[in-house]
Amino acid sequence: MEINKHYFDTVIIGSGLAGLRASIECVKHGTVAVLSKLYPTRSHSTAAQGGIGAALGNEEPDNPEWHTYDTVKGSDFLGDQDAIEIMCYDAIPTIIELEHMGVPFSRTPEGKIAQRRFGGHTRDFGAAPVRRACYSADRTGHAVLFALYEQGQLNGVRFFQEFQVLDIVIENNAVQGIITMNIKNGSIHVFESKALIIASGGFGKIFKVTSNAYASTGECLSMLFKQGYPLEDMEFFQFHPTGLYGLGILITEGARGEGGILINGNGERFMERYAPTIKDLAPRDMVSRAILTEIREGRGIDGKDYVYLDLRHVDKKILEERLPEITTFCKIYLGIDPSKAPIPVVPTAHYAMGGIPTDVDGRVLKDVDGSVIEGLYAAGECACVSVHGANRLGCNSLLDTVVFGRRAGKSAISIIKSAKKNRVKKERIQNIIDCISMIKNSNGQENVASIKQDLQKNMMDKCSVFRKEEDLKELLDEINNIKERYKEISITDRSNTFNTELLDAVELGHMITLSEVIVSCALQRTESRGAHCREDYPKRDDENWLKHTFAFQTEKGISFKYKPVKITRFQPQERKY
Ligand code: FUM
Repeated sequence: MEINKHYFDTVIIGSGLAGLRASIECVKHGTVAVLSKLYPTRSHSTAAQGGIGAALGNEEPDNPEWHTYDTVKGSDFLGDQDAIEIMCYDAIPTIIELEHMGVPFSRTPEGKIAQRRFGGHTRDFGAAPVRRACYSADRTGHAVLFALYEQGQLNGVRFFQEFQVLDIVIENNAVQGIITMNIKNGSIHVFESKALIIASGGFGKIFKVTSNAYASTGECLSMLFKQGYPLEDMEFFQFHPTGLYGLGILITEGARGEGGILINGNGERFMERYAPTIKDLAPRDMVSRAILTEIREGRGIDGKDYVYLDLRHVDKKILEERLPEITTFCKIYLGIDPSKAPIPVVPTAHYAMGGIPTDVDGRVLKDVDGSVIEGLYAAGECACVSVHGANRLGCNSLLDTVVFGRRAGKSAISIIKSAKKNRVKKERIQNIIDCISMIKNSNGQENVASIKQDLQKNMMDKCSVFRKEEDLKELLDEINNIKERYKEISITDRSNTFNTELLDAVELGHMITLSEVIVSCALQRTESRGAHCREDYPKRDDENWLKHTFAFQTEKGISFKYKPVKITRFQPQERKY
């Protein structure tokens, strides 16, 4: 088979916000290729709706210290405070920079960047909600993505769209490049580079009900893990409280920021009981648990498994101008006009707090002692810096992508300037070609789609908002069974052109790996913290568990190491809202 070889000083996997922002830094110092398995403007960042956080204080007094405190508290004190401070203080110049790059933010009547309330963001260290999320109606990710994509093109970044990464090559503790497939025709392309930045996004597709796009399957994390590199804090997976019932499609927290409220089957605004100070704008872990508790205790709508998000009292002009996207979603998918009828919602798998461990400059860590892999960087949802700890606050993820995308890009420059030449060995390429032909020519009895559905359902049933030992152990057994079934798959499409069945099979293998990591980490952590709620260990246990999990693949199975949390300003306290 013909191999197409490319050389770029920097290769970036992923054309979401983190990858694009990194590319704009690196292209000032050398050649840059950005690869995506999609067309770049279809990256999942475009689905981010409600806002990007920054204490601009455009609508009411605010400051980055409050933002830092809220983020630390929101993370249930697991976030690393040095990284959180960097993010919250850098937020202000970041927004100004985005504005100068052309992001069409919504405006106040005086022409300043408009800001809205978002969950867990407060003034005066928790006294009351504050308007901190800068937004572009409810299409904020879309607006930022298009501006950054234009900047990338203007500055000479090369885009390779519809390229699937098949292997990340690291030899002698240094990155060499990646092996990919051009999805359009099945050809193999090898990209050698001095620096590799992984910005491949999340993996919400391992759950049955998710706000994530079809492509959010997490293969890059799994590729590193299978080579013996760690993944950090994988037990922490966020469920966004308001997914459209039955579909999981995101209904932005901005809807509650604009005055929407949650009501149960008794017509009660139940968040008043769970978070008396900030009510519906409590952090997502708390709101998701509250919704599911209402449903479990029989107070869902008509006793069923959903509650309502009520926007009927919100000024129609606000719905039209600031929430047009979710208004349209409700009309298209449920036939509901939110100005006239409440929206049925239920928590939906949304965001991975854990991922590839990095330092604050995006360098990928290979162990808990801070040692790094030369030339390898990660940023955005696939990475764990860790600014979100056990629970991310809304509108901090877009911020994380841009702040740490830029930092990863900047720190890659020293490698780009070095004289190094990296090589991907022929045997490694052949190995990947053999794996692909093995899947194509397989003739087992198992079907990829049905294994995937079983995995997603099991993850949803036994490892979502509420978890317990019995379920997690059963789930590990089920995952082992799924692994055996995966060995027996076959696919019917043997062609080279847009062979999505083949890609689904490749992705499924990685989804199974990540699921096993998540469940194993969740089983180990015998406490409840942030999004990790163990019904059999309902309390947070700082004495034993104020630490990050590093999971490694070993010959004997998954092993664990732990790393202390960086605490600079805010000592752990009870988390009340
Ligand atoms: O609710 C939302 O608009 C989601 C934002 C986020 O995940 O930060």
